[in-house]
Amino acid sequence: MTPTIIRTLKELREVVAGWKAKGETVGVVPTMGALHQGHLSLVRAAKDECDRAIVTIFINPKQFNNPEDYENYPRTEEEDARKLVSLKADVVYVPDGEQMYPSGFATTVSVKGITQSLCGAHRSGHFDGVATIVTKLFTQTQAKKAYFGEKDYQQLQVVTRLALDLDLPIEVIGCPTIREEDGLAMSSRNLLLSDRARTWAPELHRAMEEMAEGLLSGGDHASLKAAAIKRIERAGFSEIEYLDLRTADKLELVEKPDKPTRLLAAAWLGGVRLIDNIAVQ
Ligand code: PAF
Repeated sequence: MTPTIIRTLKELREVVAGWKAKGETVGVVPTMGALHQGHLSLVRAAKDECDRAIVTIFINPKQFNNPEDYENYPRTEEEDARKLVSLKADVVYVPDGEQMYPSGFATTVSVKGITQSLCGAHRSGHFDGVATIVTKLFTQTQAKKAYFGEKDYQQLQVVTRLALDLDLPIEVIGCPTIREEDGLAMSSRNLLLSDRARTWAPELHRAMEEMAEGLLSGGDHASLKAAAIKRIERAGFSEIEYLDLRTADKLELVEKPDKPTRLLAAAWLGGVRLIDNIAVQ
């Protein structure tokens, strides 16, 4: 069944009201399109757990700190709709800028604390943009459950926090990162990698795995981090923004994995910013 493509909030509200009148539950998968197997795994989870699944596709200008990055972000709407057919998504909601930010729009949702470090420290305003659009998507779709990939681990924590703080009647569900066979975390941005950069890209994950193994066997944090950075740089990455071991819940910096922790990294390869994270526990 081809999912219904909806472009206006008015139409979305009508469809959702019809479902709710029948007592059906709604799951939402917020995306910016360029769908890959990671997104599709979220849609499968939504279909398994809810009566109806909405996939939203909106390349949110407010979460890009760099206009060029926004312009270059992959746009593959027709292919995205095709990928959703076999998964039986009920609706693909593709609002335009005017639907989401009509003239006079003046509200920002801003989560403090966990947004200050990692991507928040390197992408000014990014998480305000994410928090604002996600709050709107939650209220527009009236979903009971929302599905996010653990690949964007800090984003998952931010969205979980805002849903709790604003008493939104929605459960935020984190789903495992889906990887290519060579270990590279699936991401829409992988489409922007040159063929050569694509062959080097998995080194980020491999270096992180090596560092995590070292930490778990009691190795010294500073020397393991230095070795991982060397390996990532040797693979052709030009800048490593962060490679941090942090607590899994509050994202506080630690040096030993003696409680649930994550190793998180962001680095640039051939002009493309890649992020990844793994559990270390
Ligand atoms: O992860 C993304 O694709 C985006 O940050 C999201 C959650 C769809 C908000 O625009």
